[in-house]
Amino acid sequence: MAFTIAIDGPAAAGKGTISKAVAAHFDCAHLDTGLLYRAVGARTLDGTGPIVAAKALVAEDLAADNLRTPEVAQAASRVAVIAEVRAALVDFQRAFARRAGGAVLDGRDIGTVICPAAEAKLFVTASAEVRAERRFLELTGKGTETDYETVLADVKERDARDMERAEAPLKPAEDAILIDTSELSIEEAVAKAVSAITAARGA
Ligand code: DC
Repeated sequence: MAFTIAIDGPAAAGKGTISKAVAAHFDCAHLDTGLLYRAVGARTLDGTGPIVAAKALVAEDLAADNLRTPEVAQAASRVAVIAEVRAALVDFQRAFARRAGGAVLDGRDIGTVICPAAEAKLFVTASAEVRAERRFLELTGKGTETDYETVLADVKERDARDMERAEAPLKPAEDAILIDTSELSIEEAVAKAVSAITAARGA
C-alpha cells in the first residue's frame, strides 16, 4: 500500500539519519528534500538566478558531490525563502511522495505544505547547542576547519531564516509527533520514530 511519511525539523536534528533508517525499516523510497534547495543554492553560487535554477532542476543535480558544504547550506536557506523557488519544486516532491511502495520525505514543510495528508508526520528536533556539536563533529570529521562557535552561529542563523520566512516556515504540523533527540542515541531516536509511525499507520 502506498503511504507517505513526512519528517520535518531544523538542521542537524537527526532527520537525515532517522529518515534513512525509517525508509530501510519500512522498505520504501527516501527523498532528502534539503538536497533540492541545496542544488538550487549551489547554482546561485555559480551566478545563476535562483528561480531559473529551480525551474531547470533535474534529478541528476541531487547527486552532485559539493552539496554538503556550509556555504551551500546557507545558499539553500537563502533561496528557500523565495516563493517561486518553492513552487517550482512542489511537483517533484509530491510525485515522489505518491510512489507505489511508499515514501519517506524529510525537510522543513513536508507535513505542513507538501504532503499535509501524509499518513505519518514526525517533527524531529534538538537544542541548538546539541545540533551545533553534532554538525561540528561531522564537519571536522570530514577535515573541514571550523570551530564550535562558528557552527553554532551558523545553525542559529539558518534556524531563524527557516522559521521566520513567510513562505512555508519551519514549524510542526498540528498532528505531527514530536521527537526531541537532544538526549537520545541514534538507536533510541530511530526506535521512537519507527514505533510512532507503526502506530500512525495502524490507526
Ligand atoms: O535539510 P538541509 O539542511 O539540507 O536544508 C537546507 C536548507 O534548505 C534549509 O536551511 C532550508 C531549506 N529547506 C526548505 O526550505 N524546505 C525543505 N523542505 C528542505 C530544506
